[in-house]
Amino acid sequence: MNFTLDRKKALVTGGGSGLCKGIAEGLHEAGAEVVLLGSSSKAFDAAREMGQSGPSVYGVQADLQDKNQIEAGYQKALEYLDGRLDILVNGAGIQYRCDALDFPAEQWEKIIRINLSAVFYMSQLAAAKMKKQGGGKIINIASMTSFFGSVRIPAYTASKGAVAQLTKALSNEWACYGICVNAIAPGYMATALTAELKEKNPGQYKEISSRIPMGRWGTAEDLKGISVFLASEESNYITGAVIPVDGGYLGK
Ligand SMILES: NC(=O)c1ccc[n+]([C@@H]2O[C@H](COP(=O)([O-])OP(=O)(O)OC[C@H]3O[C@@H](n4cnc5c(N)ncnc54)[C@H](O)[C@@H]3O)[C@@H](O)[C@H]2O)c1
Repeated sequence: MNFTLDRKKALVTGGGSGLCKGIAEGLHEAGAEVVLLGSSSKAFDAAREMGQSGPSVYGVQADLQDKNQIEAGYQKALEYLDGRLDILVNGAGIQYRCDALDFPAEQWEKIIRINLSAVFYMSQLAAAKMKKQGGGKIINIASMTSFFGSVRIPAYTASKGAVAQLTKALSNEWACYGICVNAIAPGYMATALTAELKEKNPGQYKEISSRIPMGRWGTAEDLKGISVFLASEESNYITGAVIPVDGGYLGK
């Protein structure tokens, strides 16, 4: 069995915090050199903390709303990784809660740009490199809302539904280059993104909690194993999959 990521080079967007920091830690613990790309200086702080032992970890700040910054951030990451990229995790994502009737246009545009368009542009850049190298692994972060509609998060739901479909579309085109494109669909996870729900909508929070068969919300730790697996040689025949990591939520 070869789950090691020794000498592999990874770029993790959103890797400075939350779930994707956990994913980045998993890849790093398995031996990969990692670049954390985020919108704030948290990416640098997390890189310093993570890089205290093991392979090098670097931080890059870029705003994924802007295509020029996506390209600049990608180039900077590749400089740190000496021009090689084996693993891309498209993890950065935001959301905004509001009734659909009142949903502000600027929030709609922003969410679609960060959660969907940036995934496509970053994947295009990475796949061009991976094609030349003879293969690679792209892991997108989908959601439970890739499967169902939820309420008061229409832009988020639309973006995550599209991320699942984009994962399949890209997997079909890039399998012939040895590039696997898969998505992880986390269930309800306790992070900054969902803290507001707990505070402002305790009713919905309770309803969700009672539906999780494992009886708890997920954590970043819960995503480490699946990420290392999808980044490793052991998942070479898996592509186009959207894999729930949800404590059983979807099955109920
Ligand atoms: N928390 C959950 O329950 C849950 C469930 C399913 C999926 N997800 C997804 O997991 C991913 C991580 O979410 P999280 O809960 O850890 O949230 P988080 O807020 O802790 O992390 C979001 C990350 O995205 C980055 N980011 C946001 N806007 C950016 C921009 N404009 N440019 C560059 N980077 C930007 C931030 O720097 C941050 O590191 C997201 O894609 C989210 O949709 C979360």
